[in-house]
Amino acid sequence: MDQKLIAPSVLAADFANLQRDIEMVNQSEADWFHIDIMDGVFVPNISFGMPVLEAIKRHAQKTIDVHLMIVDPDRYIKTFAALGANNLTVHYEACTHLHRTLQAIKAEGMKAGVALNPHTNVALLEDVINDIDLVCVMSVNPGFGGQSFIENTYKKVSQLKELILKNNARTLIEIDGGVSSKNARQLVDAGADVLVAGSFVFKSDAPQQTIRDLSALANS
Ligand code: DX5
Ligand code: ZN
Repeated sequence: MDQKLIAPSVLAADFANLQRDIEMVNQSEADWFHIDIMDGVFVPNISFGMPVLEAIKRHAQKTIDVHLMIVDPDRYIKTFAALGANNLTVHYEACTHLHRTLQAIKAEGMKAGVALNPHTNVALLEDVINDIDLVCVMSVNPGFGGQSFIENTYKKVSQLKELILKNNARTLIEIDGGVSSKNARQLVDAGADVLVAGSFVFKSDAPQQTIRDLSALANS
Protein backbone atom coordinates (compact mmCIF):
# COMPACT_ATOMS: atom_id res chain seq x y z
CA MET A 1 0.00 0.00 0.00
CA ASP A 2 1.25 3.46 -0.84
CA GLN A 3 2.11 5.78 2.02
CA LYS A 4 -0.82 8.02 2.99
CA LEU A 5 0.23 11.64 3.27
CA ILE A 6 -0.50 14.30 5.89
CA ALA A 7 -0.68 17.95 4.83
CA PRO A 8 -1.04 20.47 7.68
CA SER A 9 -2.98 23.54 6.52
CA VAL A 10 -0.99 26.66 7.33
CA LEU A 11 -4.23 28.68 7.47
CA ALA A 12 -4.58 27.45 11.05
CA ALA A 13 -1.02 28.43 12.05
CA ASP A 14 -0.18 31.36 14.32
CA PHE A 15 0.76 34.07 11.81
CA ALA A 16 2.60 36.01 14.49
CA ASN A 17 4.82 32.96 14.92
CA LEU A 18 4.82 31.67 11.39
CA GLN A 19 8.49 30.68 11.25
CA ARG A 20 8.08 28.68 14.47
CA ASP A 21 5.06 26.86 13.06
CA ILE A 22 6.79 26.18 9.73
CA GLU A 23 9.76 24.71 11.61
CA MET A 24 7.39 22.59 13.66
CA VAL A 25 6.03 21.07 10.43
CA ASN A 26 9.57 20.66 9.02
CA GLN A 27 10.55 18.62 12.07
CA SER A 28 7.34 16.58 12.08
CA GLU A 29 6.22 13.52 10.15
CA ALA A 30 4.03 15.68 7.91
CA ASP A 31 4.54 15.30 4.18
CA TRP A 32 3.28 18.53 2.62
CA PHE A 33 2.50 22.13 3.51
CA HIS A 34 -1.08 22.93 2.44
CA ILE A 35 -1.39 26.62 1.52
CA ASP A 36 -4.86 28.17 1.18
CA ILE A 37 -5.10 31.22 -1.08
CA MET A 38 -8.48 33.02 -0.98
CA ASP A 39 -9.55 36.09 -2.91
CA GLY A 40 -12.74 37.20 -1.15
CA VAL A 41 -14.66 36.61 -4.41
CA PHE A 42 -14.67 32.88 -5.07
CA VAL A 43 -15.00 32.36 -1.32
CA PRO A 44 -16.30 34.79 1.32
CA ASN A 45 -12.92 35.22 2.99
CA ILE A 46 -9.41 36.51 2.26
CA SER A 47 -6.47 34.53 3.61
CA PHE A 48 -3.01 35.66 2.52
CA GLY A 49 -1.12 36.17 -0.70
CA MET A 50 2.23 36.16 -2.42
CA PRO A 51 4.48 37.87 0.18
CA VAL A 52 3.38 35.42 2.85
CA LEU A 53 3.86 32.41 0.57
CA GLU A 54 7.29 33.77 -0.35
CA ALA A 55 8.15 33.92 3.38
CA ILE A 56 6.80 30.41 4.01
CA LYS A 57 8.81 29.06 1.10
CA ARG A 58 12.02 30.48 2.58
CA HIS A 59 11.67 28.14 5.57
CA ALA A 60 9.55 25.22 4.39
CA GLN A 61 11.43 22.02 3.61
CA LYS A 62 8.55 19.95 2.27
CA THR A 63 6.27 19.90 -0.76
CA ILE A 64 4.27 23.12 -1.16
CA ASP A 65 0.67 22.22 -1.96
CA VAL A 66 -1.19 25.38 -3.01
CA HIS A 67 -5.00 25.41 -2.98
CA LEU A 68 -6.33 28.36 -4.97
CA MET A 69 -9.79 29.49 -3.92
CA ILE A 70 -9.85 32.31 -6.45
CA VAL A 71 -11.74 33.21 -9.61
CA ASP A 72 -9.91 33.01 -12.94
CA PRO A 73 -6.86 31.19 -11.54
CA ASP A 74 -5.12 31.15 -14.95
CA ARG A 75 -3.94 34.71 -14.23
CA TYR A 76 -1.64 33.49 -11.45
CA ILE A 77 -0.25 30.15 -12.64
CA LYS A 78 3.16 31.56 -13.56
CA THR A 79 3.32 33.57 -10.34
CA PHE A 80 2.78 30.52 -8.15
CA ALA A 81 5.31 28.53 -10.14
CA ALA A 82 7.86 31.30 -9.58
CA LEU A 83 7.03 31.31 -5.86
CA GLY A 84 7.98 27.64 -5.67
CA ALA A 85 4.62 25.87 -5.52
CA ASN A 86 4.99 22.15 -6.23
CA ASN A 87 1.29 21.38 -6.56
CA LEU A 88 -1.21 23.92 -7.84
CA THR A 89 -4.89 23.14 -7.28
CA VAL A 90 -7.65 25.15 -8.93
CA HIS A 91 -11.38 24.86 -8.30
CA TYR A 92 -13.51 23.06 -10.88
CA GLU A 93 -16.16 25.73 -10.28
CA ALA A 94 -13.70 28.55 -11.11
CA CYS A 95 -12.48 27.22 -14.46
CA THR A 96 -14.25 27.67 -17.79
CA HIS A 97 -11.53 25.81 -19.69
CA LEU A 98 -10.32 23.33 -17.12
CA HIS A 99 -8.36 21.18 -19.56
CA ARG A 100 -6.40 24.20 -20.74
CA THR A 101 -5.74 25.31 -17.18
CA LEU A 102 -4.39 21.89 -16.23
CA GLN A 103 -2.01 21.90 -19.19
CA ALA A 104 -0.82 25.39 -18.28
CA ILE A 105 -0.06 24.30 -14.69
CA LYS A 106 1.91 21.30 -15.91
CA ALA A 107 3.78 23.40 -18.46
CA GLU A 108 5.15 25.36 -15.50
CA GLY A 109 6.51 22.16 -13.97
CA MET A 110 3.90 21.80 -11.21
CA LYS A 111 1.51 18.97 -10.39
CA ALA A 112 -2.01 19.92 -11.43
CA GLY A 113 -4.86 19.64 -8.95
CA VAL A 114 -8.62 20.16 -9.16
CA ALA A 115 -10.72 20.92 -6.08
CA LEU A 116 -14.41 20.06 -5.91
CA ASN A 117 -16.91 21.95 -3.77
CA PRO A 118 -19.19 19.72 -1.68
CA HIS A 119 -22.02 20.03 -4.21
CA THR A 120 -19.89 19.20 -7.28
CA ASN A 121 -20.29 15.65 -8.53
CA VAL A 122 -17.09 13.69 -9.09
CA ALA A 123 -18.44 12.32 -12.40
CA LEU A 124 -17.83 15.76 -13.92
CA LEU A 125 -14.11 14.91 -13.93
CA GLU A 126 -14.50 11.81 -16.11
CA ASP A 127 -13.15 13.43 -19.27
CA VAL A 128 -10.10 15.01 -17.64
CA ILE A 129 -9.21 12.51 -14.94
CA ASN A 130 -6.10 11.33 -16.79
CA ASP A 131 -4.85 14.91 -16.89
CA ILE A 132 -5.24 15.48 -13.14
CA ASP A 133 -2.45 14.68 -10.67
CA LEU A 134 -4.55 15.43 -7.60
CA VAL A 135 -8.26 15.84 -6.84
CA CYS A 136 -8.96 17.83 -3.69
CA VAL A 137 -12.36 16.75 -2.36
CA MET A 138 -13.69 19.57 -0.20
CA SER A 139 -15.26 18.12 2.92
CA VAL A 140 -16.42 21.59 4.04
CA ASN A 141 -17.53 24.60 2.03
CA PRO A 142 -14.26 26.35 1.19
CA GLY A 143 -13.37 29.64 2.83
CA PHE A 144 -12.76 28.92 6.50
CA GLY A 145 -10.84 26.58 8.74
CA GLY A 146 -12.43 24.91 11.73
CA GLN A 147 -15.71 23.82 10.12
CA SER A 148 -17.50 20.51 10.60
CA PHE A 149 -16.76 17.63 8.26
CA ILE A 150 -19.54 16.85 5.74
CA GLU A 151 -20.40 13.14 5.98
CA ASN A 152 -21.37 12.81 2.31
CA THR A 153 -17.63 13.06 1.57
CA TYR A 154 -17.09 9.32 2.13
CA LYS A 155 -19.46 8.50 -0.73
CA LYS A 156 -17.75 11.02 -3.02
CA VAL A 157 -14.31 9.60 -2.25
CA SER A 158 -15.47 6.07 -3.07
CA GLN A 159 -17.01 7.24 -6.34
CA LEU A 160 -13.86 9.16 -7.24
CA LYS A 161 -11.65 6.18 -6.44
CA GLU A 162 -13.79 4.05 -8.74
CA LEU A 163 -13.52 6.65 -11.51
CA ILE A 164 -9.72 6.78 -11.15
CA LEU A 165 -9.37 2.98 -11.25
CA LYS A 166 -11.74 2.65 -14.19
CA ASN A 167 -9.62 5.08 -16.20
CA ASN A 168 -6.26 3.67 -15.07
CA ALA A 169 -5.39 7.15 -13.83
CA ARG A 170 -2.72 7.84 -11.22
CA THR A 171 -4.58 10.72 -9.60
CA LEU A 172 -4.20 11.21 -5.85
CA ILE A 173 -7.27 11.91 -3.72
CA GLU A 174 -6.84 14.67 -1.15
CA ILE A 175 -9.44 15.50 1.52
CA ASP A 176 -9.71 19.06 2.79
CA GLY A 177 -11.82 20.31 5.67
CA GLY A 178 -12.71 19.07 9.13
CA VAL A 179 -10.23 16.19 8.98
CA SER A 180 -9.35 14.66 12.35
CA SER A 181 -8.63 11.33 14.01
CA LYS A 182 -12.42 10.77 13.97
CA ASN A 183 -12.65 10.43 10.18
CA ALA A 184 -9.07 9.78 8.96
CA ARG A 185 -9.26 6.00 8.90
CA GLN A 186 -12.65 5.90 7.18
CA LEU A 187 -11.45 8.39 4.56
CA VAL A 188 -8.42 6.24 3.77
CA ASP A 189 -10.64 3.16 3.58
CA ALA A 190 -12.81 5.00 1.04
CA GLY A 191 -9.73 5.80 -1.09
CA ALA A 192 -8.08 8.96 0.27
CA ASP A 193 -4.32 9.40 -0.28
CA VAL A 194 -3.68 12.82 1.29
CA LEU A 195 -5.30 14.26 4.42
CA VAL A 196 -5.24 18.03 4.91
CA ALA A 197 -5.62 19.06 8.54
CA GLY A 198 -5.64 22.63 9.83
CA SER A 199 -7.29 23.18 13.20
CA PHE A 200 -6.87 19.57 14.29
CA VAL A 201 -3.07 19.97 14.04
CA PHE A 202 -2.35 23.59 14.91
CA LYS A 203 -4.92 24.00 17.68
CA SER A 204 -3.83 20.82 19.43
CA ASP A 205 -1.61 20.88 22.52
CA ALA A 206 1.16 18.84 20.86
CA PRO A 207 0.97 19.40 17.07
CA GLN A 208 3.88 17.11 16.19
CA GLN A 209 2.35 14.27 18.16
CA THR A 210 -1.02 14.98 16.52
CA ILE A 211 0.61 14.73 13.08
CA ARG A 212 2.32 11.49 14.08
CA ASP A 213 -0.94 10.03 15.38
CA LEU A 214 -2.87 11.06 12.27
CA SER A 215 -0.23 9.55 10.02
CA ALA A 216 -0.17 6.33 12.04
CA LEU A 217 -3.96 6.11 11.83
CA ALA A 218 -3.97 6.75 8.08
CA ASN A 219 -1.25 4.16 7.52
CA SER A 220 -2.45 1.50 9.96
C1 DX5 B 1 -10.87 25.64 3.76
C2 DX5 B 1 -9.43 25.34 3.46
C3 DX5 B 1 -8.87 24.25 4.29
C4 DX5 B 1 -8.79 24.59 5.75
C5 DX5 B 1 -8.87 23.31 6.52
O1 DX5 B 1 -11.36 26.50 2.82
O2 DX5 B 1 -9.30 24.93 2.10
O3 DX5 B 1 -7.60 23.86 3.81
O4 DX5 B 1 -7.62 25.29 6.07
O5 DX5 B 1 -8.97 23.62 7.85
P1 DX5 B 1 -9.60 22.61 8.91
O6 DX5 B 1 -8.75 21.39 8.92
O7 DX5 B 1 -9.51 23.40 10.20
O8 DX5 B 1 -11.00 22.33 8.50
ZN1 ZN C 1 -7.40 24.00 1.45
